Amino acid sequence: MADQAEKLRELVKKTKKQCRVIAITSGKGGVGKTSVSVNLSLALSARGAKVILVDADLGLGNIEVLMGLHSFYNLAHVIEGSKKLDEIILKAPLGLEVVPGSSGLSRIADLTDKEREKLLNALFDLCERSEFLVLDTMAGIGKNTVSFCTSADEVIVVTTPEPSAIVDAYAIVKTIYLQRDDTTIKLIVNMAVNSAQAQAVANKLLNVAQQYLSKNIIYLGHIQRDIHVNQSIMQSQPLFITFPNAPATKCIETIAQRLYFQKPTEVEFKKTGFMKRLVKSFGWA
Ligand SMILES: Nc1ncnc2c1ncn2[C@@H]1O[C@H](COP(=O)(O)OP(=O)(O)O)[C@@H](O)[C@H]1O
Ligand SMILES: [Mg+2]
Repeated sequence: MADQAEKLRELVKKTKKQCRVIAITSGKGGVGKTSVSVNLSLALSARGAKVILVDADLGLGNIEVLMGLHSFYNLAHVIEGSKKLDEIILKAPLGLEVVPGSSGLSRIADLTDKEREKLLNALFDLCERSEFLVLDTMAGIGKNTVSFCTSADEVIVVTTPEPSAIVDAYAIVKTIYLQRDDTTIKLIVNMAVNSAQAQAVANKLLNVAQQYLSKNIIYLGHIQRDIHVNQSIMQSQPLFITFPNAPATKCIETIAQRLYFQKPTEVEFKKTGFMKRLVKSFGWA
């Protein structure tokens, strides 16, 4: 066991941090996390960044469905040692790569030592070969999602203007801040009628976070409610590719630009690091 902990520490030490690990999450399901993850990843890729998108939704991960991709293997096979990372990675448009994760990550909290090592090695490789590692997580304040969020360099919370989504968004913001206060959560308001409606939603969340948690939230922007999003899903083709001029696509481009230039702070980024925090948050070393 001491050996194992030592190995993990070595692996974590080896990580030369230059990849931004971004967890995308929400309080409530169905607010558009997967849609945002896919299209934001493509928008960042279109800017020339090397992006890898990981399906970290342990329930209904549907990145592949949204993108018209098909996988036979996922992270579970890498963790059990029957496949190499390169054998499970899917190639998407614009150089984006997708890691089918879902069932592979569902046991993350109770992996054997050997399996943990395999998972961490895989995450290490993914960080090494990308500038952005985007994690599409599950909704809610479950242990796995919260661990991914508090380990990531940056967290983006997605909400809609619906009151129940806002209340649940606050719950996840609070949970994350209570476990990690040296980060600043970012916010996207999806399915908004217009920017004014979204701004009002953002103000509400920013105000309660300030008032009750004394924490800031960075508002990244809104995505318009847009029929093209559903149309692209019906076609199993990402919005960003199929409808480059749709209102929602334009909103996503604006958000991608902000995110691209809004680098994480020294504290969020360099000093600690995703792998180190992940190992700690699951109590592995
Ligand atoms: N901006 C939008 N406009 C219209 N519909 C949207 C928008 N964003 C997401 N949706 C729809 O919401 C549903 C849920 O989206 P999804 O990305 O799967 O959410 P989540 O991953 O949070 O569960 C999908 O049917 C999608 O078409
Ligand atoms: Mg989803």
